[in-house]
Amino acid sequence: MTGKEILQAKGLVKQFDGVRAVDRVDFSLAQGEICALIGPNGAGKTTLINLLAGQLHPDAGSITFAGQNVTRWKTHRRARLGLARTFQIAALFPSLTIREHVEAALQADRLRLHQSVSVEQVAEDILQLCELGGKLELRARELSHGDQRLLELAMALARRPKLLLLDEPAAGLSSRETDRLIQRIAGIRDMAILIVEHDMNVVFQLAQRITVIHRGRILAQGPPQEIQRDPRVQEVYLGEP
Ligand SMILES: Nc1ncnc2c1ncn2[C@@H]1O[C@H](COP(=O)(O)OP(=O)(O)OP(=O)(O)O)[C@@H](O)[C@H]1O
Ligand SMILES: [Mg+2]
Repeated sequence: MTGKEILQAKGLVKQFDGVRAVDRVDFSLAQGEICALIGPNGAGKTTLINLLAGQLHPDAGSITFAGQNVTRWKTHRRARLGLARTFQIAALFPSLTIREHVEAALQADRLRLHQSVSVEQVAEDILQLCELGGKLELRARELSHGDQRLLELAMALARRPKLLLLDEPAAGLSSRETDRLIQRIAGIRDMAILIVEHDMNVVFQLAQRITVIHRGRILAQGPPQEIQRDPRVQEVYLGEP
């Protein structure tokens, strides 16, 4: 442990029936680092995110987050310690407005807010950042797919996490919407981010480091240029040697 790590997972295993979805994975993230997790469909990316966020508990291994052993902790307890995530399929309330979503996210975490800061002000700031400021009173069901993804991001940011886990944030977005999302994520400071993504444009524009997972195991890990050249990665991920 360097002292700068926000997250450290060791020997993680998660088995479903006959499948080892995550198989002895070691993974760590430094404070403020942006890492992309890539790999083919079914490689174990979402399962790993679920283990880190607490939706699933591992069969073996340990997870240390912000200095605490959180391996057996439930999701809300990890959230209170500063962990936020988004889902591969956005989890929104169709009839609530944008403002109501962000305020609810803030209320859920009000103990972490400074008393001098108003909920309205924080909601406003986050929504400006996510370019949703002009759409406060629209209901989630009235939003484009891209805006729904940005709203999910805004709700996660409202909690001011130390670690943000994003599961395919660009899935289903147009290239213009994807560019907006990249800009928004690139503008985030002082937050470690793990981003699962199939869109290599997103991965290479944002990630300082790439981790490749294949059949539940970490296949390679390193700076983007190194990963791009790695023949093992090309073979499993791009389907060519
Ligand atoms: N709840 C579950 N029950 C049984 N098997 C599961 C479950 N969740 C995942 N799996 C299996 O575990 C493996 C890893 O799945 P996972 O969803 O983590 O992959 P992924 O890398 O996120 O894939 P994708 O890119 O398609 O989202 C797959 O073989 C999948 O079928
Ligand atoms: Mg997945």
